Amino acid sequence: MRTIYLIGFMGSGKSTVGLALAEKLNKTYVDTDQFIIETHQREIADIFSTDGEGVFRDYEIDALKKVSNYEVVSTGGGIVEKSENLQTMQKNGLIFYLHASFQEIVNRLKQDKTRPLWNNNIEDKLNLYNRRIKRYKKYADHMIHTDGRALEEIVQEIENYIIN
Ligand code: S3P
Repeated sequence: MRTIYLIGFMGSGKSTVGLALAEKLNKTYVDTDQFIIETHQREIADIFSTDGEGVFRDYEIDALKKVSNYEVVSTGGGIVEKSENLQTMQKNGLIFYLHASFQEIVNRLKQDKTRPLWNNNIEDKLNLYNRRIKRYKKYADHMIHTDGRALEEIVQEIENYIIN
């Protein structure tokens, strides 16, 4: 069995879709952010503010390797920042990119205060988004549009891809 990895920008629905997919297919599920929080007993915002993004990325590389035995894995939006992570995912499974438009992300994360990289101005957010989506598209085995679509539809699309 190959692991199903969900990648995509913050707020693209990776955790919601991952959990729903795993429940529907009766598969084991983990979220790398949650794995890091539990392993280090710290919130992500605390890791960023106390130790910096570099330390978080090291924790993330390690977490991704350690969750290779899970069947469905939701990743953090920055997982594509490190080529080591891409190798881990390509070697071990299939990569699904959940695509949401920038406007949709802005709407979904309007009230969000928990994400350290979503605390800056709109230009920086857009730059990060544009830089990241090039990588998501490049490394995904399959890209799924999520704007205006129901959770069940998205889950079904992944299921169809796996079966075929
Ligand atoms: C990050 C995304 C977050 C989390 C951290 C960094 C990023 O995960 O890993 O705040 O660099 O895009 P979500 O994509 O689940 O919000």
